[in-house]
Amino acid sequence: QELQLNLEQIEKGGFDHFMLKEIYEQPSVIKDTYRGRLLADQGLIKLGGLEDHIQKFVNADRIIIIGCGTSWHAGLVAEYIFEDLARIPVEVEYASEFRYRNPIITEKDVVIAISQSGETADTLAAIKLAKSKGAFVYGVCNVVGSTISRETHSGSYTHAGPEIGVASTKAFTTQITVLTLIALKLASVKGTISYRDYNIYLQELELIPEKVEKALLSNEHIKTVGEVFKNARNFLYLGRGYNFPVALEGALKLKEISYIHAEGYPAAEMKHGPIALIDEEMPVVVIAVNSNHYDKVVSNIQEIKSRKGVIIAIVSEGDTTVKEMADYVIEVPNTPESLTPLITTIPLQLLSYHIAVMLNRNVDQPRNLAKSVTVE
Ligand code: G6P
Repeated sequence: QELQLNLEQIEKGGFDHFMLKEIYEQPSVIKDTYRGRLLADQGLIKLGGLEDHIQKFVNADRIIIIGCGTSWHAGLVAEYIFEDLARIPVEVEYASEFRYRNPIITEKDVVIAISQSGETADTLAAIKLAKSKGAFVYGVCNVVGSTISRETHSGSYTHAGPEIGVASTKAFTTQITVLTLIALKLASVKGTISYRDYNIYLQELELIPEKVEKALLSNEHIKTVGEVFKNARNFLYLGRGYNFPVALEGALKLKEISYIHAEGYPAAEMKHGPIALIDEEMPVVVIAVNSNHYDKVVSNIQEIKSRKGVIIAIVSEGDTTVKEMADYVIEVPNTPESLTPLITTIPLQLLSYHIAVMLNRNVDQPRNLAKSVTVE
């Protein structure tokens, strides 16, 4: 037994939990994901699975993205980036809903199925349905040779390496990395992005690993914030635009591993319901990084403050406005808005991790959850 214990310790690479190890792996696995695919100095993106089918994407009436859990959140981020940069209409659906609602699918649709494990039953069934209607199905999987990677017409692996923690971390950021590469490639082929902007994005993508590394430096500070809120009964997570799905993912991470109830919401939608919950007992995590929506988020923060809500704000380096208003501030490096989810996700992963550890939860294997859900 001692031997087995040591083996596990070795596998955890000096970290207390697989989840923490996987959070810290993100700078290197994001690099692995774009290695050989992102050639910034040549202004090129090469994705093997995409090259032969690029016209299918370019001519598609729309892209339907399907997934479950965290993979569905990556799909929501992708919706923003595909529509924003490549100007292709996108719908994102829970695979479980899609498969049972008699959806309209044609040969002019491209379906992107996102799955870390490549084995999720609902996603697999949705793929089979889409294929039977003639759609072209592209997989974004992490596990090489998994069922979904074999059932799809083509695809791109995320190359995140094995993810052991049940709560997904590095799979999420590498899924977003792959989807961003696809969106940029399509934008350049379709001519919906300027040559200059395209090149800026490629260079900025290359800088993401070091920025994630920098975001990880806030770990100790995030732990102290977690200490303050570990006994909260509820959390609200707010974000706008690209960071709305990040708010959903932040809330999901907290729920999954700490068992604290948390809800993610688009910041502007708060006034249609969640604002009723806000009082001095309610921590509100607001993603308030530099973006087109910055001023709007600032006014959302004012609304929360005037109702005595406690704000934990994720802000860009150098921010001054939100810093003065928020109760707790976590800084992250600047990056173009479309890439911010890759950075803003990091402190939210760490916050839920620390809270769960302080509450003595089984971080890597939370109750009732499975890493790969192969049954309905
Ligand atoms: C389970 C896992 C989640 C994961 C979801 C989808 O619920 O606990 O972490 O996001 O399944 O899994 P997939 O392997 O399809 O990405």
